[in-house]
Amino acid sequence: MNIDGKLIAKNLRDHLAVEVAELKVSHGVQPSLTVIIVGDDPASHVYVKNKIKQTQEIGMISNEIVLPIDTTEEHLLNELEKLNSDNNVHGILVQLPLPKHLNENAVISAINPEKDVDGFHAVNSGKLFNGEEGGLVPCTPQGCILLAKEHLGTDLSGLHAVVIGRSNIVGKPVAMLLLQENCTITIAHSKTKNLAEVCKQADILVAAVGIANFVKADWVKDGATIIDVGINRITSETGVTKLVGDVDYDEVVSKCSAITPVPGGVGPMTIACLLSNTLIAAKKVAYN
Ligand code: GUN
Repeated sequence: MNIDGKLIAKNLRDHLAVEVAELKVSHGVQPSLTVIIVGDDPASHVYVKNKIKQTQEIGMISNEIVLPIDTTEEHLLNELEKLNSDNNVHGILVQLPLPKHLNENAVISAINPEKDVDGFHAVNSGKLFNGEEGGLVPCTPQGCILLAKEHLGTDLSGLHAVVIGRSNIVGKPVAMLLLQENCTITIAHSKTKNLAEVCKQADILVAAVGIANFVKADWVKDGATIIDVGINRITSETGVTKLVGDVDYDEVVSKCSAITPVPGGVGPMTIACLLSNTLIAAKKVAYN
């Protein structure tokens, strides 16, 4: 069966919209998110447009700063400094990837951790690693956990979760969240030996490698729960372009007990969790 990320994300956004309205009434605070995008990568612009639309739809304030591809690091850091000190800005997101001449780590480090709604700042990833409360947690990994729990229930204790991919955006943080849920975790990656056999151990398999249809049916244990983070654009022999995940859905769907489709699985959850983080950041300011 499918895990309907589109519906679960919609329910989460509806719930957030109510909380946004309540915060406005109770504290006179309207959560606000500023997104910075550098350059003109078409896919990034589509993602940002979606973020802005959904931010506004739930009653939050949304600002977009579009900078040219030749923006200097100094200029970008100055922009961030202004946003850091602006009390009306609760969340800041710098869309990745950045143009090659900009140092992503330096840019992420310049964001006030309390406004880092991506959860990428070392203060936030450090809190996640240490199991400390109160940090902002990366959005896609949060979405993965919510989707897994939708199918498996809230208790994931003792399940073996295999994560394919070790990125800072998905692989590492989702593994930390699964560990927090008392899963036994394996992080597999491009150098992993016997990858198929490793994946076959998984009760929960999270695929975040960025290779279309990479995971095959004989890599999957009967009844496993599959969370497919991949968003890969492929063109068929007839010239039709479509989005597919990292998991060969058609092969795997009958083998597993549940799978997140692409599109309509993890993707919509990422933005919903971004909005959830923005509300958390705004509430922190409002309640202080
Ligand atoms: N590019 C792809 N995914 C993400 C994300 O989650 N956050 C940001 N800032 N950029 C991205």
